[in-house]
Formats: sequence, C-alpha cells, structure tokens
Amino acid sequence: MKTKFLCLVTLLFLGSNVGYAGTYTDSAHGNSTYGVERTTTAQYATGHCAHCHKQHAGIDGTESGHTGGPDNYLLFNTNHVSQTDNFCYSCHGDGTFYTNAITNYSYSRIFGGDTGNSVDDIKEAFDLSGSTHDLADILIKLKTDWPSTFNDNSNPCSGCHNPHLVQKKISSNTYSADKSALSRPCNHDELWGDTDGSVDKERMDEYLGASEYYRAPFYVRANSALQITTHEPDRISRLYSEANGFNLTNFVAFCLDCHSSSIGTVKAIDWSINGDVHGKAFKSGGTDNGNRMAPYTADGTNGTLEDTNKNFVLSCMDCHEPHGSSNPKLLRTEVNKKTDISFSGGQFNNFCNGSCHSSTHNESTTSCAECHYHGNNL
Ligand code: HEC
Ligand code: HEC
Ligand code: HEC
Ligand code: HEC
Ligand code: HEC
Ligand code: HEC
Repeated sequence: MKTKFLCLVTLLFLGSNVGYAGTYTDSAHGNSTYGVERTTTAQYATGHCAHCHKQHAGIDGTESGHTGGPDNYLLFNTNHVSQTDNFCYSCHGDGTFYTNAITNYSYSRIFGGDTGNSVDDIKEAFDLSGSTHDLADILIKLKTDWPSTFNDNSNPCSGCHNPHLVQKKISSNTYSADKSALSRPCNHDELWGDTDGSVDKERMDEYLGASEYYRAPFYVRANSALQITTHEPDRISRLYSEANGFNLTNFVAFCLDCHSSSIGTVKAIDWSINGDVHGKAFKSGGTDNGNRMAPYTADGTNGTLEDTNKNFVLSCMDCHEPHGSSNPKLLRTEVNKKTDISFSGGQFNNFCNGSCHSSTHNESTTSCAECHYHGNNL
C-alpha cells in the first residue's frame, strides 16, 4: 500500500508524460480534447491526472458533496462508499463536479437504438428499481477471486473498467471496434475487445465454426425484410452473414470471469456444449421448435424460416444490460428490434416472444423462463 502511495505521488509530480504515457493519453480520460476536466481544477490541461488525483495530500481536502474519509489513492472523492455514492459518479453521475455533464446511455440505447430508454448517466443505471449489479457484492467477488489486483480500497467499477485505459467506442457517431471501455477482472492492466485474432479471442467471431455461429441482432430501425440491413453494434448496413461479431467484444469470456461459478444465490452460467442452448449447446430439435425469427433465418430476413442448420451462440449483451435495468435480471429494454417488452405478472414471455422467437407453445399460460432458464439446458 505504502509503495503504491509513493509511486502515485511521484507519478503525479512528474506529470502525465511518464508512467502511463502512451496508454493513458490514448484513453478517454487522458484525451486532451474531451478527457477529464473538472470545474475546480481548470488550471490543469484537459486529460491531466490532477482532475482525478490530488497532488497535495488530500488528507482532508474536500469539495462540497464529498462523503467518507480521506482516500487512499489521493482521489478528490472517496473511491467507493455505496451503490449511489462512488468516485466515478462525480463525473458520470449528476455532474456536480464536472464542467459539462457527461451523457452515458444504456447498452440498449447506444447499440440497439432504443431512444425510449431514458437512462442517461451511470449513477442512474446503478440506482434503477428493476435490477442492478450490486457494487458491494462485486467488490467482494473481486477481492476474493483476484486478491493481488483488488483490495478493500478498490473501486468496484474497476473490476470491469481500468480508469487509466478506458476508451470511447463511439465518437461523433462513429463506432470503433478497436477501442474498448473494458478490462477483464482477470487482466486488469489490458483492454479487452480492442484486438481481434485467433489467439486473443477478444471478439464474438470467436464463435464462428463448423458447429457454432454468432449473428448480431438487428438494430432497432433495421428492415427485417432485407438481407442487407443494420445490425448491432455499429448500426451499419451489411449482409446478414457479415454481421458475424467480428466487431463485437467477446462478452461471453468477459462476463464468465465472474459468472462461470455461482455467486451466492445467483446460479453459474455454462455456455459450453454441455450447457445452455443460447450458448454452444445444440438445440434439441424436438417437435416443439419455438421458431427463431430473423436474423436467425436461412437468409437473415423474415421471408424465410429459421436456419435449422446453424447452432447460434449468443452474446450475453444481446439480452443483458451491464449496469442496471428497469427490467428484472438486468434484461435489456430492447432486444433484436423489439422495444415494447413487458414483464407484467412476472412473465418473461413478452421478452422472448416476438423478439427472437415466434413461439408455438405456452405463450400466455406460463412464463417461458419457468422451463427455459440458464442451467436447464432446454
Ligand atoms: C478518471 C479518473 C482518473 C484519472 C484521470 C487518473 N486516475 Fe489514477 N486512479 C484512479 C482511480 C479510481 C484509482 C484507484 C484504483 C482503482 O480503484 O481502480 C487510481 C489509482 C492510481 C494509482 C495506484 C495504482 C493503480 O493503478 O491502481 C496510480 C499510480 C495512479 N492512479 C496514477 C495516475 C496517473 C499518473 C494519472 C495520469 C497519467 C492518473 N492516475 C489519472 C482514477 C484516475
Ligand atoms: C460487471 C461489469 C461492469 C461494472 C461493474 C461496471 N461496468 Fe461500466 N460497462 C460495462 C460494460 C459491459 C459496458 C459496455 C461496454 C461497451 O460499450 O463495449 C460498460 C460501459 C460503461 C461506460 C460507457 C457508456 C457509454 O456511454 O458508452 C461507462 C462510462 C461506464 N461503463 C462506467 C462505469 C462506472 C462508473 C461503473 C461503476 C459505478 C461501472 N461502469 C461498472 C461493464 C461494467
Ligand atoms: C473528472 C471527471 C471523471 C471522473 C472522476 C471519471 N470519469 Fe470517466 N470519463 C470522463 C470523461 C470526460 C470521459 C469522456 C467522455 C466523452 O467525451 O464522452 C470519460 C469516459 C469514460 C469511459 C469511456 C466512455 C465512453 O464514452 O465510451 C469510461 C468507460 C469511463 N469514463 C469510466 C470511468 C470510471 C470507471 C471512473 C471511475 C473509476 C470514471 N470514469 C471517472 C470523466 C471522468
Ligand atoms: C467482477 C465480477 C462480475 C462480472 C465481470 C460480471 N458480473 Fe454479473 N454479477 C456479479 C455479482 C457479484 C452478482 C451478484 C450480486 C448482484 O445481484 O448484483 C452478479 C449478478 C448478476 C446478475 C443477476 C442480477 C439480479 O438481478 O439478480 C446478472 C443478470 C448478471 N450478473 C449479468 C452479468 C453480465 C451480463 C455480465 C457481463 C457484462 C456480468 N454479469 C459480469 C459479478 C460480476
Ligand atoms: C412448460 C414448459 C415450457 C414453457 C413454459 C415453454 N417451453 Fe419452450 N420448450 C419446452 C420443451 C419441453 C421443449 C422441447 C425440447 C425438446 O424438443 O427436447 C421446448 C422447446 C422450445 C424451443 C426449441 C428449442 C430446441 O432446443 O429445439 C424454443 C425456441 C422454445 N421452446 C421457446 C419457448 C418460448 C419463447 C416460450 C415462452 C413463450 C416457451 N418456450 C415456453 C418447454 C416449455
Ligand atoms: C437469450 C437471452 C439471454 C442471453 C443470451 C443471456 N442471458 Fe442471462 N438471463 C436471461 C434471462 C431471461 C434470465 C432470467 C431467467 C433465468 O434465470 O435464466 C437471465 C438471468 C441471468 C443471470 C441471473 C441468474 C440467477 O440465478 O438469478 C445471470 C447471472 C445471467 N443471466 C448471466 C448471463 C451471462 C453471463 C450470459 C452470457 C454468457 C447470459 N446471461 C446470456 C437471458 C439471457
């Protein structure tokens, strides 16, 4: 701890040209045009470390709104206090400390195009009443599984993001597959999803093979009658077979760093060939076939039937939000073009049916999730 502290002080005095140099200035926080820039530290250049770290002690040094005690990393706010009180919210929240309010929409909105989803900052997402990723539980998981990287003073957001590396995937409406906001908890000092290749397997096209296949869901305004139309995550019109995850982060590996084993009452997720049908396992092919809708059809359009020759493997983010949702179980508000999703009466039917399946059974009597849930391999 003490060494870290000294090293931090040294780096801060030396300025942003050393230590984190290359990687940091490539990051969204270190960018000299749109990076960190706080109202009360306007004397420092945009992107300077001092917009987050105080160079002078920070023993008391509070700005109004500061809660908790002095911070171990010399941050201007306590690193983590609770679900609604976290250092990152100083800028990615209601914006009291920040020159311009930062807008961060939900995954459903950014990549799916759901403009009806009004969540526009990270604090709001983690405070939704539907369901949220519990930050206290995440920190426990991080400290338990990766004790040499995370400790009591760590920020739970850092389990999925490294504040010194994070990049913007979308800038001026352009999507860059080679930029990433994410670092895996098992590999905190590197970005995940920024590079592709057979060795790294950092993209969803890792699931392209003789017996497995990734196909990106439609963007909300896609025309499902066409073979060439817009898909996630970049909303660019391309042939259905080319929307194969080459530009999408491998979220399966990412989420499974924590979810391959059970966490308290939250069950383990198995995406292997012995696990879920939305993973590598083959559909059973029985008579109750619950038709898969476009783009999971023979020519990617709603003019043909489901492609029974393909074993589609899905990305966790095709169905889930990362931070929080107004729906249960972090489920997205928009799935494969469908936005009028309702969970009334605790039924999941409306989420599955009409988005990806035109089911022929149990559409109203029982919830699909009573029989089809993670772990039931059905
Ligand atoms: C966006 C805010 C932010 C900016 C900008 C920032 N840091 Fe940090 N830094 C953090 C947080 C948060 C931590 C605490 C570790 C954690 O929980 O992830 C931290 C921790 C550190 C540490 C402790 C070791 C580690 O990596 O965890 C060092 C050293 C450090 N920062 C140096 C720097 C330097 C040098 C710069 C500028 C080049 C910088 N930081 C810019 C937020 C920031
Ligand atoms: C369980 C992992 C996880 C945790 C914990 C987490 N995030 Fe995220 N976050 C993600 C994922 C996944 C994305 C979407 C990544 C992408 O765009 O490729 C994301 C996206 C973001 C974005 C970018 C949104 C945009 O506008 O593009 C920001 C900012 C962000 N997170 C901040 C935070 C903050 C602040 C915290 C803590 C309060 C946090 N995250 C905790 C996984 C996580
Ligand atoms: C001093 C203000 C400040 C603090 C504190 C801060 N950020 Fe940021 N963050 C920014 C700015 C500014 C950007 C660039 C936003 C933009 O231009 O859209 C950014 C961008 C990001 C991005 C890339 C988002 C994107 O648009 O794709 C992520 C992820 C992120 N921050 C996570 C974090 C996490 C996690 C923390 C806490 C450890 C944190 N930030 C703390 C100011 C801050
Ligand atoms: C750093 C570890 C970590 C990572 C990475 C992670 N999770 Fe979690 N997740 C947790 C913990 C801890 C819980 C249990 C606490 C809770 O209920 O939020 C949880 C709970 C959940 C739940 C249940 C929420 C509820 O309402 O019961 C869902 C759904 C979920 N995670 C999805 C995901 C997805 C999708 C990803 C990938 C983007 C992911 N998680 C990545 C740690 C993680
Ligand atoms: C009462 C239990 C039950 C409910 C509720 C239920 N299903 Fe099914 N479903 C089954 C069984 C059993 C099969 C047949 C598996 C087999 O053929 O081996 C099946 C098959 C399927 C298949 C084909 C999977 C395959 O491997 O071939 C899909 C898709 C499907 N159901 C979707 C749905 C949807 C969508 C809903 C909600 C509208 C739903 N199901 C509700 C029990 C159920
Ligand atoms: C086809 C949509 C879909 C995909 C893809 C998907 N999930 Fe889920 N997930 C659900 C639904 C629906 C539920 C709630 C029913 C249930 O528990 O299975 C759920 C629940 C969960 C839960 C909570 C389990 C519990 O015990 O409460 C976790 C954790 C989770 N998902 C993680 C993941 C991860 C990790 C991935 C990727 C490997 C993933 N999901 C992919 C739809 C999906």
